Amino acid sequence: MTFNIGVIRGDGIGPEIVTEAIKVLDAVGKKFGHEFNYTEILMGGCSIDATGEPLTDEAIAAAKASDAVLMGSIGGNTSTSPWYKLPADKRPEAGLLKLRKSLNLFANLRPAYLYEELKEACPLREDIIGDGFDMMIMRELTGGLYFGERSTKEENGQLVARDSLTYSETEIRRIAKRGFDIAMKRRKKVTSVDKANVLDSSRLWRKIVEEVALDYPEVKYEHMLVDNCAMQLVKDPGQFDVILTENMFGDILSDEASMVTGSIGMLSSASLNDTKFGLYEPSGGSAPDIAGKGIANPIATILSAAMMLRYSFDLDKEADAIESAVKQVLKDGYRTIDIMPQEAEKRGEVTQVGTGAMGDLIISRI
Ligand code: IPM
Ligand code: MG
Repeated sequence: MTFNIGVIRGDGIGPEIVTEAIKVLDAVGKKFGHEFNYTEILMGGCSIDATGEPLTDEAIAAAKASDAVLMGSIGGNTSTSPWYKLPADKRPEAGLLKLRKSLNLFANLRPAYLYEELKEACPLREDIIGDGFDMMIMRELTGGLYFGERSTKEENGQLVARDSLTYSETEIRRIAKRGFDIAMKRRKKVTSVDKANVLDSSRLWRKIVEEVALDYPEVKYEHMLVDNCAMQLVKDPGQFDVILTENMFGDILSDEASMVTGSIGMLSSASLNDTKFGLYEPSGGSAPDIAGKGIANPIATILSAAMMLRYSFDLDKEADAIESAVKQVLKDGYRTIDIMPQEAEKRGEVTQVGTGAMGDLIISRI
């Protein structure tokens, strides 16, 4: 089969890690008889430099015309890069938010999984890690504080800034359904996270989640306050299967969950709408400090490409092949610097490799 993939390389380590993911996709295409065509799309700082805008209408049209979009990362150093002297709606991140909204990518899936081989990189104590953990954060991505009205105005002689948090029943219901659907394919547990002791939007969230839950009698669900969830993630991460939450809470909790796995360089993500289309990107950022050094971990991007094969193209066998190749490479003792355990290196058990070599090692196991 032939698939058209939009490619957003972006900024920082984005271009290097995307190169590896494309190499892996091509190897999968060759082995399983598929053709992947790529269309380069500009977004973020590189788009600002080339066009003055973080995301142009042409770029949105190119993304819409693709079967799916694979993305690296966008943005730069927020204290030193000239991109952050621009007005907020002209900065790199504004491009990503505009893309999410224009393509209605309301469902953001962020798996956080502890690899047996990377246990040493996990910052939690062994008794807390237990048998490991495997959770899916389902973050609402096109509503809430990110897209509410905002303003900064002078009132009574001082500046006052406002951001508003709005959710409609429809927005909550569609993401809740996605969360329960995913739970049905996993361990059938949903933890819906909110701040219902304070926020109206959270009280509506709870009400709608309870309505949706009625259609999924097999799924065990619970409500958890967001502050408690932040604590439970480091106290007992094994208790979670699907964490279902709104945009801002999901942003924060997904970073926390990924750090608990030991390396953000390992975690993929998918942003989906009501169609088969999806935007696939690593959970980590553009890491401008290590850009161009050839040391960035490409695994999260490669695993994002696997998610793309699974969710947008229905190529489960092919996605499995990538995921097992990644596991095998780790088992064979290859690590990028971010997941390199110092002790094991001394014992000569693992070998440190760069971005390109990691891509090649994964390809040779497909
Ligand atoms: C993420 C990022 C973005 C977000 C930024 C870059 C706007 O942190 O994807 O989690 O806050 O959604
Ligand atoms: Mg984030």
